[in-house]
Amino acid sequence: MRILLALSGLVLALAAAGAVFVASGIYDFAATRQHTAPVYWLIDTTLRRSVRNHARDVVPPPLDDPALAARGRALYAAHCVQCHGAPGVAPEPFALGLMPQPANLAQLVRERSPSELFWVAKYGIKTTGMPAWEYRLTDDDLWAIVAFLPVLGRESPQAHRSAAGALPRVAPAGDPAATEVDPERGRAALQQYACTTCHTIPGVVGANAHVGPPLARAGARAFIAGTIPNTEDNMVRWLRDPQAIHRNSAMPRLGVTERDARDMAAFLRSLR
Ligand code: HEC
Ligand code: HEC
Repeated sequence: MRILLALSGLVLALAAAGAVFVASGIYDFAATRQHTAPVYWLIDTTLRRSVRNHARDVVPPPLDDPALAARGRALYAAHCVQCHGAPGVAPEPFALGLMPQPANLAQLVRERSPSELFWVAKYGIKTTGMPAWEYRLTDDDLWAIVAFLPVLGRESPQAHRSAAGALPRVAPAGDPAATEVDPERGRAALQQYACTTCHTIPGVVGANAHVGPPLARAGARAFIAGTIPNTEDNMVRWLRDPQAIHRNSAMPRLGVTERDARDMAAFLRSLR
C-alpha cells in the first residue's frame, strides 16, 4: 500500500514537473542550438529503430540495372541534391540551416538497407526537414533513386560533375492508373498539399488556419467558392486548378494530381 502511494506520488511529481517545463517555455527550439547529448541520443535511437521497424516488410525490386540508376541520377538532381549534396556539390543555403542537417547520402548508403532508404524517401521524417515524396514521386521513381545512391557513394567529384552535365530527361510521372478512391488517403493528402496552412478542417490535427474558409460541412454545401455546384467532379476541378474557376482566387494551384484530388474530394464529401 505504502509502495503504491509512493509510486503515485512520484508519477504526480513527474507530471507536475513536465507541466512546468512545458508551460515555462524554457526549452530552446532554435535550429542553431544543438540538442544536448542525451536528447540527441534519444531522438536518434528512436528514429533509427522506427525506420528499421517500419521498413521491415518493404521488398526491393532488382536494383542493378544501369538504366534504372541513370534515371535515379536525374531524379536525385531534380529533388534531392539541394538538401543532401553530392560529391563536390554543397547543399543549398536553406538546407545548411536545417536542424537536423540533411545526411550525406553518399556516406549513408553504406549504412542503410535499400528498404530503409526507400521507406524514408517515400514517407519522410516528421519534425525534420525530410519531405515525404509519396504524393510527388511514384514508387518506381523512388526505387530508381535508391538504385542510384550506391553509384553516388562511389563517385569522384569529377565523375559526378561530368555525369551531371548530361542528365537524362525524366518525364514527369503521369497519373497512375485509376485506383479505388480512398478518403483516408485523401485526409493525409490535405496535409501533404498544405491545405492545412490555410483552412480549418475537421478531422485533421493542426488544421486550424483561417486564410481560406473553414471546410467544416464541405460535403453539405451547394456551391464551391460560391461559384460552381458542389459535385465530385467540380471539386476535383477546383482542387487541381482553383484559378481556372475563380481567376483571382487566393487559393493557389498546388500541383494536385487527379488521383489525389479524387481522394481529397471523397474525404471532403464526408464532412457533413
Ligand atoms: C528540404 C531538404 C531535403 C530534401 C529536398 C530531401 N531531404 Fe532527405 N533528409 C533531409 C533531412 C533534414 C533529413 C534528416 C536527417 C536525420 O534525421 O538524420 C533527411 C534524411 C534522409 C534520409 C535518411 C537518413 C538516415 O539517417 O537514415 C534519406 C534516405 C533521405 N533523406 C533521402 C532523400 C531523398 C532520396 C531525397 C530526394 C527524393 C531527399 N532525401 C530529399 C532533408 C531533405
Ligand atoms: C494559400 C492558402 C490556401 C491553400 C494552400 C489552399 N486553399 Fe482552399 N481556399 C483558399 C481561399 C482563399 C479560398 C476561397 C477562394 C475563393 O472563393 O476564390 C479557398 C477555397 C477552398 C474551397 C471552397 C470552400 C467554399 O467555401 O466553397 C475548398 C473546398 C478548398 N479551398 C479546399 C482546399 C484544399 C483541399 C486545399 C489543398 C489541396 C486547399 N484548399 C489549399 C485558400 C487556400
